[in-house]
Amino acid sequence: MINVALPKGRLGEKVYSMFEEAGYECSSIKEKGRKLIFENEEAGVRYFWVKPSDVAIYVERGAADIGVAGKDILLEYEPDIYELLDMNMGKCRMCVAGMKSFREDLNKTLKVATKFVNIAKKYYASKSRDIDIIKLNGSIEIAPILNLSDVIVDIVETGSTLKENDLEVKETIVDISARLIANKSSFKFKTEEIEKIKESLKSQIK
Ligand code: PRP
Repeated sequence: MINVALPKGRLGEKVYSMFEEAGYECSSIKEKGRKLIFENEEAGVRYFWVKPSDVAIYVERGAADIGVAGKDILLEYEPDIYELLDMNMGKCRMCVAGMKSFREDLNKTLKVATKFVNIAKKYYASKSRDIDIIKLNGSIEIAPILNLSDVIVDIVETGSTLKENDLEVKETIVDISARLIANKSSFKFKTEEIEKIKESLKSQIK
């Protein structure tokens, strides 16, 4: 039995169809409802819908053998897992953004609001830039508008959230996409099956 942690949402639904194509069908997953665990004993697969940012935790701890997680989460939490495949989906960028009018003063500590504390810390450490981190949990874009921070470090996908709030990208830190990840010991004991899934997903990547 292969246990798969799927990120709840549109990306997860696309990922499920790819697993289905790979021979791991579980049609009950398509029924509307609040159920979170789906199993097809014959196909030897069990799926869990989890919060996208939690996929790596399930996989790292072995509650799931494999899963699909965003590179943002992998960079932020550095879970002890194997990253098997770039799915070329869920593409976005991790950026520094701020008000269009903001001009950085290099003599002052930069106030940075973000959900991605480690990514931000590492990025600015690499530039030897002193920062003051303000950890937020969402709607990060509000911070520079209300003067809570100078800039934000956040995900930019279409750019509409920035645009509609009069903000702009100042720097791109890293490109992000969804990755197939595996638990280390699952990979050791279920190598053949996990490799088979990986190869099938790989062949379906556009
Ligand atoms: C993410 C991110 C931005 C937005 C970017 O937020 O934090 O706010 O998407 O997308 P865009 O460039 O297409 O506008 P999310 O919807 O995950 O919610 P959050 O505010 O809880 O972070």
